Amino acid sequence: MSRYWSAVVHGLTPYVPGEQPKLANLVKLNTNENPYGPSPRVLDAVRAEAADTLRLYPDPNSDRLRAGIAAYHGVAPEQVFVGNGSDEVLAHAFMALLKHDKPILFPDITYSFYPVYCGLYEIAYRQIPLTQSFEISVDDYLMPNGGVIFPNPNAPTGRLLALSGIERLLAGNPASVVVIDEAYIDFGGESAVELVARYPQLLVTRTLSKSHALAGLRVGYAIGQPHLIEALNRVKDSFNSYPLDRLAQAGALASMEDHTYFEALCAKVVATRSRLVSSMAEMGFDVLPSAANFIFARHPDHDGAELAAALRARSIIVRHFRTPVRIAPFLRITVGTDTQCNALVDALKAIVAC
Ligand SMILES: Cc1ncc(COP(=O)(O)O)c(C=O)c1O
Repeated sequence: MSRYWSAVVHGLTPYVPGEQPKLANLVKLNTNENPYGPSPRVLDAVRAEAADTLRLYPDPNSDRLRAGIAAYHGVAPEQVFVGNGSDEVLAHAFMALLKHDKPILFPDITYSFYPVYCGLYEIAYRQIPLTQSFEISVDDYLMPNGGVIFPNPNAPTGRLLALSGIERLLAGNPASVVVIDEAYIDFGGESAVELVARYPQLLVTRTLSKSHALAGLRVGYAIGQPHLIEALNRVKDSFNSYPLDRLAQAGALASMEDHTYFEALCAKVVATRSRLVSSMAEMGFDVLPSAANFIFARHPDHDGAELAAALRARSIIVRHFRTPVRIAPFLRITVGTDTQCNALVDALKAIVAC
C-alpha cells in the first residue's frame, strides 16, 4: 500500500499465475504448458528474425500473421485480432465488448482471471454455478446480461461443452457478446469458430501457448465478425500499438503453417492423457472427463492440499486451488511427457499407500 497509488490500484485483487520455479529438475505439471518443444520451423523463423531489423518497430497490425491465422481457420484476415497472449486479447475483450450496464455471466468455477479483469475495468459480474458434475448448463445463462464468457473446455475442470450447447446459447442470447475462450480446444473439442459467420455476437479467443507449445512467445488471437474485431483494435490502439514483437510474429506464423507438427504434438498429449487418466482411476482417484491438456482429479481419502504438498516434497508440482471450496479436494495436473506422468503416478502410489 502507498499513498501514491490510485484508488483503482488500491481496490485491485490481481491474478496469481501458477508458480514458475527457478529450481531445475522439477517435474513441472502446474501451468498447462506443453511438455514438448515447438516446431523446428518456429525456431528457424525466430532465428532468421533476430537480425539488424530489430531496430525497427514490428508491423503494428501483424498482417502476415493474421493472414496465416485466417487461412488456417478459413476466415478473412479482418476477422482476426492478435495480442500478447490470449490474456491480453481477453483483457481487451472485457474492455471493448463486455463492459455494459448489466452484469456479465461466467461460471463459478472457471479461469480465475475473469473476475480480475472485472475488477480492473469495474465490470459487474454474476457467477453461475456449474452443475453437480461440474458442467456448464446453458439454460442457466439464458437471462438478461452484459455478456457471457467461459473457456471451452472449461478450466480448471477440463470439461467440454458440445458445440450444439454453444449454438443454443448463441441462439438464446442475441443481445450481448458471447466470448468462448478456446485456450485448450485443440486437445479434444470442436471449435466454435465455424459459428462465427452466423452469430454476430460471437468472439472466439485462442492461444498458441498450449497446443503450439509456445507459452514463452506470448501469442493469442481472437476470431469474430469484423465489427467485434474493430472494437478490439480500438482498445489495442489506445493501449499498445505494437503488442507482438518481430520474433513473436515470425514464430507464430511458422507455427500456424506447420500443420503436421502441430497435429502430432496434440496427438501425443492426448494419448498420454488417456494413459494418465487410467492410471489415476486405478489408484482410486475420481477424474473428471477432460478435453484439455490437464486433468482434474480428487481422491476420496486424501486432501487436495496435502497431496499437492506431498508431491512437491518429491519435486513434482501440480496446481491446487483452495477456493472455491467445492474444488479444494482436487488437483489440476498438466499432462506431461510419458516419463513425467509415470513419475507422478509412482509418487502418488507411494503417497496414497501411506
Ligand atoms: C482458460 C485460459 N484462458 C486463457 C489463458 C491465457 O493464455 P495465454 O495468455 O498464455 O495465451 C489461460 C492460461 O492458462 C487459460 O487457462
